[in-house]
Amino acid sequence: MQSTSFSQFTIQSIVWTLPRLTTTTTTGRKIGNLFPISVMASRHQVTHSMPPEKLEVFKSLEPWVSENILDFRKPIEKCWQPSEFLPNASQGPDGFIEEVRALRQRVLGLSDEYFVTLVANMLGEETLPTNLTVFNTLDGVRDETGSSSCPWAIWSRAWAAEENRHGDLLRTYIYLSGRVDMMMIEKTMQYTLRAGLDNKTENNPYLGFVYASIQERATFFTHGNMARLAKEAGDPSLARICGTIASDEKRHESAYTKIVEKLLEVDPNATMLAIAHDKNRIVMPMHLMCDGQDSNMYDNLP
Ligand SMILES: [Fe+2]
Ligand SMILES: [Fe+2]
Repeated sequence: MQSTSFSQFTIQSIVWTLPRLTTTTTTGRKIGNLFPISVMASRHQVTHSMPPEKLEVFKSLEPWVSENILDFRKPIEKCWQPSEFLPNASQGPDGFIEEVRALRQRVLGLSDEYFVTLVANMLGEETLPTNLTVFNTLDGVRDETGSSSCPWAIWSRAWAAEENRHGDLLRTYIYLSGRVDMMMIEKTMQYTLRAGLDNKTENNPYLGFVYASIQERATFFTHGNMARLAKEAGDPSLARICGTIASDEKRHESAYTKIVEKLLEVDPNATMLAIAHDKNRIVMPMHLMCDGQDSNMYDNLP
């Protein structure tokens, strides 16, 4: 059996020929540079770069994952849920409308730039299908059945469930705020999910776990910063939302960092190579974000 295989394939260039349009917030501010024609560059992708004999490393770590990583899951009954942070729709209509009105009043102090970043964060959370797909490309740790009892898979499903509520909560709050063009956001979500994510982890769990630990740290910082800014702008409810999500991200970062530390212990050479690889090539999850008009939307964010 070949120890390492590489494949090279080209993703067909995608050309959209749409009329020039602009994105606006409800306060009328134009966001981003939009182009009538967008071209997605061809990308070289490496697959299955981990030698097959390394699969044994991840197999041997399964008991350790059960004992040391699964505890990073919070029991569902003790977990927060999005509805705790949102206007209560199950009360009478007057009370619900009053809570929505108060929400819309609170967000008035937040800038358009804040909302652009909040929407980008929300879209990042809502690309969960892509993120779980990428996790399940990793050799030796993927969920082989969709409900596997392998500890790596038990962890990945629990992690995905927590990420799912981040997107649910942010999306609903943004929708109720009335500050953004939801149709445009929803189209962007569709384009972005179709584009996927090319994070260059090569089906290689060493690369995948280093990437995840860095990525969770980045999301911890961004949600934490958004919490601070919301508080300063007079929306303590949104500050609590972003702070609560940031706390989940910190726990995720701790889990993935612990996995990388264990890999450094059992296989320092391969793990150091993965750290060097990811350190120089980190790709943000939304790097292929597109609204159907701007192929370089991520770089053009204000
Ligand atoms: Fe998240
Ligand atoms: Fe996370």
